[in-house]
Amino acid sequence: MFLKLVYVTLSVVLLGFSKVQGNENGEYRVGVGIADVTGPVADLGMMGYANPSQTSKGLHFRLYARSFIFGSIEEGSPLVVFLSADIGMVDQGLKFEVVSRLQKLYDPTIFTPQNVLLSGTHTHSGPAAYLQYLMYSVTSLGFYRPSFDAIVDGMVQSIQRAYENLKPGKLYINKGDVDKANINRSPSSYLANPKEERDKYQSDVDKQMVLLKVVQDEGEKPIGAVNWFAVHPTSMNNTNRLISGDNKGYAAMLFEYEMNPDSRPGKGEFVAAFASSNLGDVSPNIMGAKCIDTGLPCDFEHSSCGGLTQKCIAFGPGKNGDMEESTEIIGRRQYNVSLSLFKDENGEAEQIKGTVHFIHQYVNMTNYTFEVTNPITKMIDIHTTCPAAMGYSFAGGTTDGPGMFDFVQGITTGNIVWDTIRDFLKKPSEALLRCQEPKPVLLPAGEANFPFPWVASVVETQILRVGNLYIIGIPGELTTMAGRRLRNAIEEVVRREVPDEPAPHVVIAGLSNVYTHYITTFEEYQKQRYEAASTLYGPHTLGAYIHKYSFLAEKMLKNEDVEVGPEPPHLIDGQIFNIPVIRRDTAPLLKNFGDCLVEPPSIVNPNDTVVVRFVGGHPRHNSMREGTFLLVEKALDPAADTWETIASDADWSTKFHWSRPNVLSKESVIEISWKVPSDAEGCYRIRHFGYHRPSDYITGDLLGPRSYQGKSAIFKVNGTGDDVECHPEWTSERKQPSKINSVAQFWHALRFLDKRHGK
Ligand SMILES: *[C@@H]1O[C@H](CO)[C@@H](O)[C@H](O)[C@H]1NC(C)=O
Ligand SMILES: *[C@@H]1O[C@H](CO)[C@@H](O)[C@H](O)[C@H]1NC(C)=O
Ligand SMILES: *[C@@H]1O[C@H](CO)[C@@H](O)[C@H](O)[C@H]1NC(C)=O
Ligand SMILES: *[C@@H]1O[C@H](CO)[C@@H](O)[C@H](O)[C@H]1NC(C)=O
Ligand SMILES: *[C@@H]1O[C@H](CO)[C@@H](O)[C@H](O)[C@H]1NC(C)=O
Ligand SMILES: *[C@@H]1O[C@H](CO)[C@@H](O)[C@H](O)[C@H]1NC(C)=O
Repeated sequence: MFLKLVYVTLSVVLLGFSKVQGNENGEYRVGVGIADVTGPVADLGMMGYANPSQTSKGLHFRLYARSFIFGSIEEGSPLVVFLSADIGMVDQGLKFEVVSRLQKLYDPTIFTPQNVLLSGTHTHSGPAAYLQYLMYSVTSLGFYRPSFDAIVDGMVQSIQRAYENLKPGKLYINKGDVDKANINRSPSSYLANPKEERDKYQSDVDKQMVLLKVVQDEGEKPIGAVNWFAVHPTSMNNTNRLISGDNKGYAAMLFEYEMNPDSRPGKGEFVAAFASSNLGDVSPNIMGAKCIDTGLPCDFEHSSCGGLTQKCIAFGPGKNGDMEESTEIIGRRQYNVSLSLFKDENGEAEQIKGTVHFIHQYVNMTNYTFEVTNPITKMIDIHTTCPAAMGYSFAGGTTDGPGMFDFVQGITTGNIVWDTIRDFLKKPSEALLRCQEPKPVLLPAGEANFPFPWVASVVETQILRVGNLYIIGIPGELTTMAGRRLRNAIEEVVRREVPDEPAPHVVIAGLSNVYTHYITTFEEYQKQRYEAASTLYGPHTLGAYIHKYSFLAEKMLKNEDVEVGPEPPHLIDGQIFNIPVIRRDTAPLLKNFGDCLVEPPSIVNPNDTVVVRFVGGHPRHNSMREGTFLLVEKALDPAADTWETIASDADWSTKFHWSRPNVLSKESVIEISWKVPSDAEGCYRIRHFGYHRPSDYITGDLLGPRSYQGKSAIFKVNGTGDDVECHPEWTSERKQPSKINSVAQFWHALRFLDKRHGK
């Protein structure tokens, strides 16, 4: 008894000394920031379904980067940055560029690759063409620098805003289940995990949301919330052509509407992030998959109907499977729980206390060799990872977005035709084929370096610690069980290393820093469904990560440094398959950019959708980042020309749609729609903003993009209140094509004829 007391006293004293910055009272410096990361919204591939024909045709709502910075209360002590962005995934090129830009803006020791964690929400409706490895330029048909730049600019800006907003504050953590928002899309694969292990859990997906609440100053003013909940943002399917943050982006929009009632989306002080987690095998399409021709269940092992994946599709809870309504429902379910956790309606929120710390290492996953004790034989097994490769079932896709050709999920043997095509593209080594077994290899991406690396071989592994919250930055998509194993392993290390500290909360931040597709358990790997076929580094990929992150957690808790690891390649400036920028565009004869082609009806009812059309420039000239392509305005005073903004292109109620009615012409038509809220009444108008790119009338030389704007006629929303007269004179203000432009177009026509004539 006495000895035990001495031991406890001693360990408390020793621990007290060894701590970096104790922070027993939970006083931190905290800051949040948000910025727009919306890149090109038209005529460019979308990132997620790997479907080259899914190109963008406009914008449903804007994408944002949301940053959270935490540090101990002492000025100058190290910070950690957690950023969640509405993008498909974070890529190595983005991480390099964001950190390097921050290092130019501030003292270069403040932000480093080690303490900045960038995570993607994994929306499948954001622009593509921003990733540095070759694989991702294949489906987007090239790399597009403005797509990359928009994300970098927004990420940097959001971190700057969070940094400039750092103040003393506190953090609270709370957890709760989200019902009817996610299902497992590879249940046959999940069932391959040992029964004793599965029996420890209620469900084949994680239902729990973990929410961190951020408050500032003495008054504990709420400034932000970030939560982690495992679900794919694939409520919008591969037929969607409008840029969207999907269910996570919508949930964030709802939370921010609630907390910033007087601000436009993306402009308020309060920041709410719905971050990704171990969502690898988790779908929001909770009605499950069925054969779309017969309505019968799909083949369980292969998710196919009559041998084809294309007919086996999962639907969300929207009426008749409507994807927009499904997005709303799944988004609202996440928002709803997050808000009650934030308000602590369950009375279980816990204040975060303790050290702020981080650890990071680059790891070469091509040949990561590690030892584990076999739980049954108690012998030491030596495992190793493999050069990256995709299996056949990678091309089968998932029930959220089926693949192409005759591939299905769960293929464990190859065939001569596809093997021959593969060998023609890139013949894999025997060692790779053996190492990846039982995966039949379709793409030996890790051995393909021509003309530059196809996928990542070196990844980033990273842990951020804020008191007893541990954020595990994972370079890919862990399946449900893979995530549980990793979380449990880290928890065990923490309990072992700092037994006297409050119980740890371990969260998985998915799609972080660099993208390497999926990570399944060893058992799921044997089934070779889509997630396993996309587990790049072979059957022991998860084992390697558990080994590495456990090592990192231990080192961090012992306050020991680790080697930086091998530097990944910098490929952004050496991209060769560049998508060209849009060149000149034109307005129809006798029309000007911004002219309204289709006016709204003079009177509409609440709940109607108002549709207007404008003569537009190509939206790829400028994505109006931090701005808007449109405004819906309401007349404040019917007697004066004063207007209040009701909605922008960042709102759910509006849509911005681009089309080029004639493929051969350079004319663009912009269609804007607005769903009139049920409580609207009064006089309204819709405005459009954009850029067009003219060429010099005399020389024909291409000039830089120029801004233009337009507005619709005023229309009345037929409300229930007093009848208002919408000022008739305003309507006559509508812009007529200017004479200058008509003269110019005449010139153009002449030049054109002249050229033709000369041929
Ligand atoms: C996508 O969703 C729409 C409903 O919004 C549905 O009609 C269509 O069949 C779905 N397509 C796929 C491939 O999931
Ligand atoms: C929101 O959550 C509460 C409990 O947290 C529940 O009672 C309510 O029905 C939910 N609303 C919706 C629309 O899901
Ligand atoms: C990663 O490891 C492989 C195999 O050991 C090696 O060939 C390759 O050069 C390494 N890559 C880097 C960037 O260190
Ligand atoms: C992989 O690593 C092991 C052990 O570290 C080493 O013996 C082997 O040569 C490496 N293989 C390659 C291809 O680099
Ligand atoms: C608009 O829709 C809401 C909810 O769907 C409904 O309650 C309201 O009566 C509708 N208003 C009109 C004018 O149709
Ligand atoms: C305007 O609303 C009233 C009822 O509130 C209805 O009787 C009238 O038909 C509506 N007008 C139009 C043009 O829809």
